[in-house]
Amino acid sequence: MNEQTIIGIIGSGAMGTGIAQVAAIAGHKVVLSDANGEALGRAKANLITTLIKLQEKGKINNAGQILENISYTQFREPFTELAPCGLIIEAVVERLDVKHNVFKNLEAVVSNDCVLATNTSSLSVTSIAAACQNPSRVIGLHFFNPAPLMALVEIIPALQTEANLVPETKELMLKWGKTPVITKDTPGFIVNRVARPYYGEALRIYEEGIADMATIDWAMTEIGKFRMGPFALMDYIGHDVNYVVTETVFQSFFYDPRYKPSFSQKRLLEAGWLGRKSGKGFYNYADSNTMPLPKKDLDLGLQIFERILAMLINEAIDALHLNIANAADLEIAMTKGVNYPKGLLQWCDEWGAANCLAKLDSLYHEYHEDRYRASTLLRKQAIGNKKIV
Ligand SMILES: NC(=O)c1ccc[n+]([C@@H]2O[C@H](COP(=O)([O-])OP(=O)(O)OC[C@H]3O[C@@H](n4cnc5c(N)ncnc54)[C@H](O)[C@@H]3O)[C@@H](O)[C@H]2O)c1
Repeated sequence: MNEQTIIGIIGSGAMGTGIAQVAAIAGHKVVLSDANGEALGRAKANLITTLIKLQEKGKINNAGQILENISYTQFREPFTELAPCGLIIEAVVERLDVKHNVFKNLEAVVSNDCVLATNTSSLSVTSIAAACQNPSRVIGLHFFNPAPLMALVEIIPALQTEANLVPETKELMLKWGKTPVITKDTPGFIVNRVARPYYGEALRIYEEGIADMATIDWAMTEIGKFRMGPFALMDYIGHDVNYVVTETVFQSFFYDPRYKPSFSQKRLLEAGWLGRKSGKGFYNYADSNTMPLPKKDLDLGLQIFERILAMLINEAIDALHLNIANAADLEIAMTKGVNYPKGLLQWCDEWGAANCLAKLDSLYHEYHEDRYRASTLLRKQAIGNKKIV
């Protein structure tokens, strides 16, 4: 794959449009396709506006050429416009049956050496690949939202993926100015797995009445230096997305209590209180509303911060233990994919594996829940406070 490779994108929603922009700016001809003609029209209008703005700001100087390099086609038989593509990235709705159909249709029209990628955030790439006659050409390329701004791309080889596709797609992502990491095809890949306790443990602390959400958000931003507190962040992501990812990860991990979803968040979703986008979630975003103030109690804040941090570190170190990714990629994923102030493994080294383990063990003794079991690797590192990175 090189600059001459024509890139096909299926699905012209938030992700497909963003990925099309990235590929076109990197110099490729791009064919953007969607089953829905109106969605395609919106994507075209958005891309024109965005590229003109980027040119006005001096970030690019060839908006006209880039726009000319993007063509639009409805995703329907005979799919002819997609035939010359050398790489197709699928970004349609997150449904296995729909993705299976898309891959079957694509395989019937593209050349034998066309690479087929999926941008799925929670489905098994191996299962998507299984829909193809030649599953060895299928790989996961998980971009983050918004794709033009977020540097991270998780590369996920399926069980069937040809080995050389990993370095090939990695090189291409580097050319696109992205920061690729490689991860095993397991639920949530790196980011959506390791980040779960940021939400889950915050919700648990809130549900138990240990602190209110404003105080939890304050603890994580003021003491932890995270960019957004968990409740503000869940509202920002939207509960339709954030809750569904949690539930999918929980189910995919055979109901491991570590990933158990929360009723408080489920009820918000049921009420249609999706967060910022609907004007109300955990917080009320109406202009007339006064936001709740945190209780700035440093002891309480530290207790909240250390509890959530210990759970996050445990998740990261367990991912390392299970070879989900190497240490360097785990650190890159959490700092570039969700902008954590520090890699979690480095954080473990600085805090001390023994301190982190003591926090988890005290939670385990308090609750007697499997949710708080410490990773074997954390236990090993805690002996003599061995460093990881
Ligand atoms: N939104 C995110 O934050 C995010 C981040 C990373 C990955 N993803 C993944 O990216 C994919 C797309 O997400 P999105 O947020 O862009 O969704 P979206 O709803 O904004 O867009 C999906 C698009 O796919 C089109 N589509 C649906 N079925 C189709 C079909 N059979 N053939 C062709 N087009 C079809 C729809 O018309 C729509 O325009 C999903 O797999 C999602 O899990 C989303």
